[in-house]
Amino acid sequence: MAPPGAETLWDTKRVIPMSVMQLADEAAPLPEKFLKKAGERPITAYNEFCKEIPVISLDGIDTQKGRERIVAEVGRACAEWGIFQVVDHGVPQKLMNRMMENTLAFFKLPLEEKMKYASKPGGFPVGYASGSHRADDDILDWRELIAHRALPKENREKDYSHWPENPAGYRETVVEYSDTMDALVTTLLGVISESLGLPRDYIKNAVGGENAEQKILLNYYPQCPQPDLTLGLRSHTDYGTITVLQQDEVGGLQAYKEDRDQWVTVEPIPGALVINLGDQIQILSNAKYCSVEHQAVVNSNQTRLSLVTFANPSSMAQMGPAPELLSEANPAKYRSYTFRDYLPICFAHKTKKHYDALVI
Ligand code: OGA
Ligand code: NI
Repeated sequence: MAPPGAETLWDTKRVIPMSVMQLADEAAPLPEKFLKKAGERPITAYNEFCKEIPVISLDGIDTQKGRERIVAEVGRACAEWGIFQVVDHGVPQKLMNRMMENTLAFFKLPLEEKMKYASKPGGFPVGYASGSHRADDDILDWRELIAHRALPKENREKDYSHWPENPAGYRETVVEYSDTMDALVTTLLGVISESLGLPRDYIKNAVGGENAEQKILLNYYPQCPQPDLTLGLRSHTDYGTITVLQQDEVGGLQAYKEDRDQWVTVEPIPGALVINLGDQIQILSNAKYCSVEHQAVVNSNQTRLSLVTFANPSSMAQMGPAPELLSEANPAKYRSYTFRDYLPICFAHKTKKHYDALVI
C-alpha cells in the first residue's frame, strides 16, 4: 500500500517502500509491515522517564580531581548501565540547535526532493530512507531517516551525492557537527580507557586512530496512530564503538536493563547528550562493560527527532578483548577478528545478539 503520489517514486533503484510521514498524515490503521510481533511491542511508556540512568557532568575534566571523578562515574555507568548522559560536554548549544533545525527542514521537504538523496539498495546504507534502509526488509520501523558517512574525510567527500544541498547550510552544519562530535568521542574514549585501567589513548588507537569511522544518522519519528503496535526503531545493540545521541524534548529512547528485565525510557534533558556503548567496547572490555540493547518508541501526540553519531573502528582494525585486561582469572570471552569481518560473522551465525557469534 503506497500513499497517493508515492507509487511513481517507488522503483527498484531506490529503497523507499512508503513515506512514513505521509502515512502518519492519513492516520489510518497501520499497514501490516509495521506491526511488530506480540513480544516485540512497546511495554514502557515513551514519557515514563527513568531517573536512575546516570547523568555525568564533564566539567573539570582538565583538572586531576575532576578527571578522577569523571573516570569513576563513567566506569560505574558503563558497567551498570551501558548508557548514560553527559552535560557540560562543551558542544555548543547553538550548533546542537542548528543541527535540529536543518534536520527538521530536510524532513519537511516534499518527498520528491528527499528522493534525490534516496538510499540505493544493495549499497552501503547511506542517504534518505523511510521505514528501513533495506529493500528486502520484512518489517518496517515508524521512522524516516538519512545517514551519512562522515569520517574519515575521504568517506565524507565520496558520499556528498547523498548530502542534501537543501536546506541551505545543511552540509556545512553536518560537517561542523561531525568534527565536534569526533572531538567529544576522543575525550570519552580516553575516559573509558582510563576507567578500565588502560592508557588514555588505548581505545582510540585500538579502533584505528585517525582512520576510525564515523557515521551520522538523523531520525524523524512521525506521530503514530497506533503506537502500541509498532516501534520507531526495533530493539538492537549498536555494533560499533560508542554512540552519541542528541534528542529533542519528546522522549522515546528506551534501554533494556537486563538485571531487572525492564525497559527504561531515557529522560530528555535540555542540552544533554546520550552516550551508549557499542558491541566493540563490550568485547574489548571482555564483558566488563555492556553494549546495551535499546529501541525507540513512538507516540500519537508528537513527532520526535534524534541525531545519532556512531563512532566505529576502521575496517582494518584488529578487534577483540584487550590483552592487558586478561589473566588466568579473566580469560578471553571472545575471539579476535578484523572489524570488517564483524557483521558478516554475526550474520552468518544468526545469534540473537551480534557479539554472541564471537563467544569462545
Ligand atoms: C540508533 C538508535 C535511537 C533513537 O539510531 O541506533 O538507537 O532514539 N536510535 O533514535
Ligand atoms: Ni542504536
